[in-house]
Amino acid sequence: MRLPPHLAVRDGRLLIGSHDCVALAERFGTPLYVTDGDRILHNYERYANALKAHYPKVRVLYAAKANSNLSILRMLAIAGAGADVFSSGEIELALKAGMKPQDLLFNGSSKSRRDLALAVERGVRISVDSLDELTQLEEMAASANRMVKIAFRVNPALEVPTHPKIATGLRTSKFGIPHEEVVSAYREAMRCPHLEPAGMHCHIGSQILEMAPFAEAARVMLRLAGELKDIGIHLEFIDLGGGLGIPYRREQDPEVGPEDYASAVMPHFLKGIRELGIEPELWVEPGRFIVADSTLLLTRVNSVKHAHANFANVDAGFNLLVRPVMYDAYHEVIAAGKADQPATQVWTIAGPICESGDILARDRRMPELIAGDLLAILDAGAYGFVMSSQYNARPRCAEVLLRGDEARLVRRAETMEDIISTMVV
Ligand SMILES: Cc1ncc(COP(=O)(O)O)c(C=O)c1O
Repeated sequence: MRLPPHLAVRDGRLLIGSHDCVALAERFGTPLYVTDGDRILHNYERYANALKAHYPKVRVLYAAKANSNLSILRMLAIAGAGADVFSSGEIELALKAGMKPQDLLFNGSSKSRRDLALAVERGVRISVDSLDELTQLEEMAASANRMVKIAFRVNPALEVPTHPKIATGLRTSKFGIPHEEVVSAYREAMRCPHLEPAGMHCHIGSQILEMAPFAEAARVMLRLAGELKDIGIHLEFIDLGGGLGIPYRREQDPEVGPEDYASAVMPHFLKGIRELGIEPELWVEPGRFIVADSTLLLTRVNSVKHAHANFANVDAGFNLLVRPVMYDAYHEVIAAGKADQPATQVWTIAGPICESGDILARDRRMPELIAGDLLAILDAGAYGFVMSSQYNARPRCAEVLLRGDEARLVRRAETMEDIISTMVV
């Protein structure tokens, strides 16, 4: 299997950075999320540099929803990233990690008054998703006597080649203002004395490996920027969202990167702004590309069963990684202590949850497995831990962050006391 450069096999053991996965599992227990922080910084710099090679005024707002561990947010804050935040909780995490309010964009199609109040109070820019939200926000900004900078989220009505549950810019999607109504939404915003329409935002979906939809989204946004200029809107930023995918199927997915993204998008962006004579900042919101491949989920085989399939029953299930059951997502799996042994058998990797859908991987050629073996689920860093649950009263597992030769616990495993502590009998 083609491994990314931060993973390697030595003496039959899977290494992440300089760390032996078997040793990490023994030291910290399983299940365990292990993240290579150096890989995250590499991915972040690569993304920012690919765009800055075309245009200097670029800001990368890491999509905190992909992985909001405070230590990861902190590393990215120090590297200069802002954040796309989707709840008041994510606002608080990003600020706690050291990001500045002006480095955040608060997105979401269903923001509560409490969410909006926090953003107004902290001075966070808001991507407004409906005219109702606009009215509520104006009232709040007026009563707080604040000026609030806003964007509108545009629904560009684009088909994108990805799983339907993560296509977010379809005409039928719940997100954004239909593109043909965007100009009148800005006119409405211009009538709000406490709101300043400073930007425009879109995000067309996630895990996209073809560049044409990104280019089309940029074209739509620049056309709209022209219409907004005509009505007197001065855009400080145009935010094209995130969405760049990674090659989860390492043998067959195309390996596209931010350089391909930039080559597809930047000609439309640059042509558009030159024609309009404007120089807005370009904001982007990558999540998955920054963190997905940085992380392994280590899980131990509890038992094996040879029935209609060979089942390896492991200690992590969709309580810890919901992507396979939710999006039919594919993750590569490696027997971390037997990585050089011949793949002689076909295995189904089944979690411990009481649902027949709790299968992490199907029909994988792997070495013979026995109870106690350690498996590594690859590319688990995006939409992994953040989507975990306590289903079946299973405490969430720990997270470890690697920097160089150091391995640190950045989230302890939950205990039964944690599960019980919020309940009242
Ligand atoms: C508004 C917004 N921006 C950015 C992202 C990040 O997308 P990705 O992780 O695919 O880069 C998302 C993900 O759903 C999103 O909803």
